[in-house]
Amino acid sequence: PRKIILDCDPGHDDAVAMMLAWGNPEIELAAVTTVGGNQTLQKVTRNALSVATVIGMHDVPIAAGCKNPLVRPVEIAEDVHGDTGLDGVDLPEPAMQLDPRHGVDLIIDTIMQAEPGEITLVPTGPLTNIAMAVRKEPRIVERVREVVLMGGGYHTGNWSPVAEFNIKVDPEAAHVVFNENWPVVMVGLDLTHQALATDDVAKQIAAHPGPVSDFTLGLFAFFRKAYKDAQGFDFPPVHDPCTVAYLIDPAIVKTVKVPIDIELTGTLTLGMTVADFRAPAPGDCHTWAATELDFHKFWDVVTDAIDRIQKQ
Ligand code: BDR
Ligand code: CA
Repeated sequence: PRKIILDCDPGHDDAVAMMLAWGNPEIELAAVTTVGGNQTLQKVTRNALSVATVIGMHDVPIAAGCKNPLVRPVEIAEDVHGDTGLDGVDLPEPAMQLDPRHGVDLIIDTIMQAEPGEITLVPTGPLTNIAMAVRKEPRIVERVREVVLMGGGYHTGNWSPVAEFNIKVDPEAAHVVFNENWPVVMVGLDLTHQALATDDVAKQIAAHPGPVSDFTLGLFAFFRKAYKDAQGFDFPPVHDPCTVAYLIDPAIVKTVKVPIDIELTGTLTLGMTVADFRAPAPGDCHTWAATELDFHKFWDVVTDAIDRIQKQ
């Protein structure tokens, strides 16, 4: 199995990423860390523990990371994720305890204690923790297998016309992560806007009745209304699990090698992930952009994970 650290801000789609990572046998969750993003650090951390409780995730350390972006004031996505960060479902009292380490230290410890090339980083929130970890322990860069992140987009934005939320709220952190010499796969909006939780998807999941399926359908129902009201979508894009799906089966997510950098000074374009498609990627290019989703395979692995968790 692929060993991953999921660095997240649950968040409806982050919760589904947790399920997929925990429920799929190809993935081994080495740690879960949280970062302020969709809601405050306190709320998303509690949500991570509650989701872990719902899915029976055990023996995976969960630690709270950074509360604030590196440079800029906090921005949360309350219009999309609600007051709790996971509105629309009943959140159980967490049955597990938080790891006492800071999330950034848990990331560093996990990578440095593993074999070189063993750990893949999967950030699905702002990149604050990852940037901090790189600065605190630069040797993680050569030890990490790859960084597969949800964020950005080469054709569209959602937090501005051209910038995506995870990148836009902490662009300096994103700049650090995209400019370190490790493989970075950007699973951005171009890809995740294909991962819509349609009525057929809801039916497919409902065909596996149980607490995790109910929980997921509750998440989708709230997410659907929020995306309708906030961005005019008919069905909500379930962004974050696309990263995990790519690691389970690269055939689910097509990628293209392309130089990508982060805009830090634009007045209209701050936080844009600028991808240079003008020529074939140069030899030293270490960034990829996700382009095309195999919709059915994607929802099949998500459904399968829900089913497996319910049978555990
Ligand atoms: C990203 O922002 C958050 O609202 C979601 O959890 C996802 O990670 C989409 O722009
Ligand atoms: Ca997220």
